[in-house]
Amino acid sequence: MKKRGIIISFEGIDGCGKSTQAKLFCKYLDKKGLDYVFLNEPGGTYTGEKIRKILLDSKNNICPLTELFLYLASRSQLVEELIRPYIKKGKIVVLDRYIDSTTAYQGYGRGIPLKLIRYIHNLLLRDSLPDITFLIDAPAKELLSVLKNKKRDRIEKESVEFQKKVRDGYLHIARHEKKRIRVIKRKTVLLTHKEIIKKWERFIDGYK
Ligand code: TYD
Repeated sequence: MKKRGIIISFEGIDGCGKSTQAKLFCKYLDKKGLDYVFLNEPGGTYTGEKIRKILLDSKNNICPLTELFLYLASRSQLVEELIRPYIKKGKIVVLDRYIDSTTAYQGYGRGIPLKLIRYIHNLLLRDSLPDITFLIDAPAKELLSVLKNKKRDRIEKESVEFQKKVRDGYLHIARHEKKRIRVIKRKTVLLTHKEIIKKWERFIDGYK
């Protein structure tokens, strides 16, 4: 493996099962005896967790630009405090959501100019861009039933139209970044996991 670590991110709209898949992927890394760290966004640091609380509290009325800057503030902290140091040490970093969430939700979902988001990400990330991203894809309508069964946070309470815009956004990003993003059609938990592992093994064979 190359000296610099690897950043792996899991993405997808609310209810797609991305967190379950990220955790199963970590179990797979455990079995392989690989050293990794698992982080989730927003949050992951002391300051980031405080920002997360503001972002997900349904009682908060947050305008789109405030929302954007809060997600970016949480990310900035995570990159500086944890991701960059880990990557320098050659670790594998597994992320439950990362940069594509902001492009999809705040960019395509809320309509904030993509140029602005790209500009800030370039400033923020430099050497900490994801190496491979698994996008778990499913129609927004199909996932509504999943969300109905849980206590929904501020973003999850958004309309199905909003989630549709976010999904289309994700697919748009994936079409433009074919090398990095692997689109995985959501199936059963096990089948989706197998598909992810297949794609990961192909990626890592070419990486060594
Ligand atoms: P979380 O509880 O982590 O949900 P999930 O299990 O779906 O990841 O909440 C994160 C929410 O924040 C989710 O609805 C997506 C949203 N989000 C953005 O809108 N922009 C972002 O940049 C990030 C990281 C998340």
